Formats: sequence, structure tokens, C-alpha cells
Amino acid sequence: MADHFHEANRRRWDAGSASWATRADARGTWKKCHLNPALALHSAELKWLGDIADKRVAVLGSGDNQVVFALSGLGAKVTSVDISERQIEVARGRAEALGLKVEFVQADVADLSSLGGATFDVVYTGGHVAVWVSDLRRYYEEAARILKPDGLLIVSEYHPFRRVWKHSAGSLELGFNYFDRGPHRFEVAPDVLCAAPGELEQFEFHWTVADYISAILSSGCRLIHAEEFGDTGEWWEGAPVAGLPASLLLVGRRC
Ligand SMILES: C[S@@+](CC[C@H](N)C(=O)[O-])C[C@H]1O[C@@H](n2cnc3c(N)ncnc32)[C@H](O)[C@@H]1O
Repeated sequence: MADHFHEANRRRWDAGSASWATRADARGTWKKCHLNPALALHSAELKWLGDIADKRVAVLGSGDNQVVFALSGLGAKVTSVDISERQIEVARGRAEALGLKVEFVQADVADLSSLGGATFDVVYTGGHVAVWVSDLRRYYEEAARILKPDGLLIVSEYHPFRRVWKHSAGSLELGFNYFDRGPHRFEVAPDVLCAAPGELEQFEFHWTVADYISAILSSGCRLIHAEEFGDTGEWWEGAPVAGLPASLLLVGRRC
């Protein structure tokens, strides 16, 4: 049965997809990632991906698909998974425009039953996906299930230390207790980055660093690497978070 929170978030992303696409078109990065993977992937991630030419890679919660296009440009056979049909439609059109062969699958990361077990050499996921997912353990169990033995699970998420602050230009003030995972319910406008309230409902989940580690450890993977990177702030973060880690990279190997 579909998760009530995920259904709301799917509707939220279907409604937000057009404005999200317009912003991405204005930046234009998606048009270049297949030629310059470093635009989408940090050097720490690229190191773990290694030579992925001809390997089967699943990207879960693929969003604007910059990582998908980067991996495809590196020669990987990529399956792009997202819960939002609208997001997939946009990405499919972009892949066609770039001449990239990508398999697109509309699915919830907590239920990848449309994908066979032990199919992929690498599963990459992250960049603001876990925040939409109500059951982190189930999500990574599914990721581990579709991995071949010894396959890599690469989780590269927005760092939990950045998710707890009030909107404020000048100083950091806690808006959420670090341990309050939610669900945090918001009434939002279609534009994902619009701070003003609207008529759509979305649910967010604030997982802690230990939650990520525990979920990987219980997924059927061994944790083989942990790293934090990035220390600059972006305008959309709404608080002066420069100096805090931006990303949490965790690498698991399928047992
Ligand atoms: C902020 S975007 C980020 C994704 C990607 N990392 C990127 O940089 O574009 C979040 C994406 O996760 C997708 N998503 C949210 N909940 C999901 C779920 N339960 N299963 C699969 N995809 C989900 C949304 O549809 C959206 O495309």
C-alpha cells in the first residue's frame, strides 16, 4: 500500500516539476554534466565510482538527473528512478536532447519491486532524497536488495547539521531539535524553493547522522567509507550555514 506521506510528496513534486525545470534550464548545468561529470559529482564521489563504463548503475530519487547524465557520460548503463512522473518526463526529454540512453522508472524508493534483485553494480542516491522518505531503513534495504554481491551503495546526502536552522540572514538559531525526525508537515506553493505557504502538502523527515549509518548497516551492506565535504552556503539555505558540512557521503558494500 502506498505510503500516505510519499503520496503527498509525489503530488508535491508533480506540481513543482515545471518551475523546478525552469530554474534548472536557467542554470543550464544539466546540458553539460555528461561532458564534465565534476559539475554533478564531487571528487570524493567520483573516486568511489571509479571506472563505471559499462557498469549498471541505479540512481534513486533522480530529480533533475544531473548525476544520471554525468554517469551516462562516463559510459555507465543508468537506470533513473523517481516517484514523480512529471520529474521523469522532464528528465526523459533532456536525455533525448543530449542523445543519452537512460532507462527511466517511476517508483517509490521504499518499494523498488519493479526492479529485480542483485541487478546493479552501483546504487547512487542522495542530494535531498532521504528528507522525503518516511522509512530510511526500508529505503536502503531496497537499495541493497537491487545490488549485486559486492556492489556499492553510495549515499551522498545533504548534511543533517544544515537542516535544523530557522530562516535568518544574520545568525544561526535552532528551528528544529536535531533529534526531531518528524514527520514535519508543511503547506507549500508549487515552486519548491518558494518560502511562502501554499495549498500543497509536503512531509519532511530530518534523519540524523546516526540514522543514516544505522540504516546502511542494517540494509545488508558493510559501511566501508564515511566522509563530510563542502563548507560554503547557498542562498536557498536561508541561514548562514557556511562552515558547517554540506554533504554526508557514506559508502556501503553489499555483503
Ligand atoms: C530535491 S530533488 C533532488 C534529487 C536529485 N538529487 C537532484 O539533485 O536533482 C528530490 C527528488 O526526489 C524525488 N522523490 C521524493 N520522494 C521520493 C520517493 N519516495 N521515491 C522516489 N523519489 C522520490 C522527487 O520526486 C524529486 O525528484
